[in-house]
Order: sequence, then structure tokens, then C-alpha cells
Amino acid sequence: MEKNKIAILGTGNLGRSIAEGIVDKGVAKAENVILTKRDLSPLSDLIDQGFKASVDNREAVAGSDIVLLCVQPSQLSNLLGEVKDLLTKEHLLISVITGISISDIKAKIGDSIPIVRAMPNTAIAIGESMTCIASENTEGLEVTKKLFDALGQTLVIEENLMQAATVLGASGIAFFMRYLRAATQGGVQMGFDSKDAQLIAMQTAKGAASLVLEHQSHPEVEIDKVTTPMGCTIEGLNEMEHKGFSSALIQGIMTSFLRITKMNTD
Ligand SMILES: NC(=O)c1ccc[n+]([C@@H]2O[C@H](COP(=O)([O-])OP(=O)(O)OC[C@H]3O[C@@H](n4cnc5c(N)ncnc54)[C@H](OP(=O)(O)O)[C@@H]3O)[C@@H](O)[C@H]2O)c1
Repeated sequence: MEKNKIAILGTGNLGRSIAEGIVDKGVAKAENVILTKRDLSPLSDLIDQGFKASVDNREAVAGSDIVLLCVQPSQLSNLLGEVKDLLTKEHLLISVITGISISDIKAKIGDSIPIVRAMPNTAIAIGESMTCIASENTEGLEVTKKLFDALGQTLVIEENLMQAATVLGASGIAFFMRYLRAATQGGVQMGFDSKDAQLIAMQTAKGAASLVLEHQSHPEVEIDKVTTPMGCTIEGLNEMEHKGFSSALIQGIMTSFLRITKMNTD
């Protein structure tokens, strides 16, 4: 990567996962990554691994090519106010902040600095994120894609789909977790202890997603392979549909989407 000095402004849960992931996958060297936070004490293990750390966002921006904005939405204004005079068109600004558009950021820092929006999910911590990225800056998109490709799969989307990407990809982690919990409860009712039931549910979910990804097939194609005529699977599946399984999921997704849309106009 041509731009190799990276600043992560606001190294909380997501910033830490990104920092660990890019170094672990060899996209950046720890000594080229500077992490900021007002309280540095939770970063001591990363500092021991060779990361730089500072409470000074200005120092971090001045010494970097790529600046990742990883603070909470309510903390962004102060942060940008602090560093905006140091940002140049040579920087690439990547924002993972939910609900803040590129034009919102431009309104605070001007429109000469390349900005990319990225929406990863928490599986970034294990290099399995689904990350959607958007920008009108082609070079910025390329650099950002390379960065996040090391941490899972990356998809370039139009910025107007970012809220949908947040619901499907980031909130989606919670939706799948609820499926896993319910499947585990079913397993316990059938006689497994909870640890075994959870393992069976988790590995089965991972296998199901991997089948569709690797075969590049459709879920219904994989379902057809499991459903014997008059068998137990189709009977269970149809009962789930009678109880509104697909409908409940779609309605839940749409309710989250309506909420996130409203949050941006509140
Ligand atoms: N969790 C997800 O699934 C997910 C997915 C995609 C995007 N996002 C977005 O990612 C962002 C970060 O989420 P998170 O879960 O990592 O939040 P978080 O754990 O609260 O991290 C934010 C960090 O920013 C630091 N901070 C706040 N103000 C600062 C300042 N002025 N200078 C330097 N550091 C500052 C805070 O530490 P100090 O208080 O010590 O400064 C904190 O560690 C959010 O905007 C969220 O919307 C989250």
C-alpha cells in the first residue's frame, strides 16, 4: 500500500479490532499505526506489540497518510474541530461512524480531502467482517478496499445504501445471534446440554453460510438438498413459515431500517 502510515482516531472496540486485524494480516506494520484515545491505559497490550499510541489527535494526523475515524457519532464534531486544519488532500479519511454521511463530514472539514465511508461489523475482530464501503473518490475506495479485504469481505456500494448496509451487515450480527440462541434452546429441549447444543447450532450456521458462499448458490438450492419428501426437515421448515419465520425476519430488518433512517432525521 502506497499510503502506509495509519492513524486510528478513537481506539475503542472497533478501532482496536481494525488495528489488530491489519497488522495480523500484514497490511500494515504496528510501528506505522498510531492509535489515539483520551485514556490510553486500555491500549497497553497494543503498545507492547509495537503500536504507537497518543492522546494527541493532532500529532497522529500530522504523521499519517490514512486517518480512520472510529469515535462515537456524538464525539465526531469535537474530534474534527481539533484536527481539521491539519488535514490535507494527501490524506485519506476513512469514517466507520454510523449515520454520518460524507457530506456531513465535508461540511465540517471542507471538500478537498478524500473521504470514504466504511461499515464493517464486529466479526472484523476475527478477520471475518462484511464491510461495505462508499465514496466518489476512486483511489480512496481502492486503498480502503485493500485495507478491509484483509479483514473479511468488502463490497463497494452507493452511499445511499449505507443505512441498509448497517442493518443487514452490522445489526445482522445480532439477528443471527438470536437465531443461534433459539436453535440452542431447541437443542436443549431435545436432550443436549447447552454447550453441545450451542456448538451444533454454531457450526451448522457457519456451514450453511459457507455452503452458499462457496457454491455461489441460493439458499433454496441448499434447502432442496436437505428436504426429503414427507421428511422431518420440510415439516419443521413449513411449521416455521406458518408461524411467520421469514416474515418476522424481514419485518425486523425493515423496522431497524426505519429506525436508522429516522435517527438521521431526528
Ligand atoms: N460496533 C459495531 O458493530 C459497529 C459497526 C460499524 C461501525 N460502528 C461505529 O464505529 C464507531 C466506534 O464504535 P465502537 O464500538 O468502537 O465505540 P467505542 O468503543 O466507544 O470507541 C470509541 C473510542 O473513541 C475514543 N474517543 C472518544 N473521543 C475521542 C477523542 N476526542 N479523541 C480520541 N479518542 C476519542 C474513546 O476513548 P476515550 O474515552 O478514552 O477517549 C473510545 O475508546 C461508532 O461510531 C460506531 O457507530 C460500530
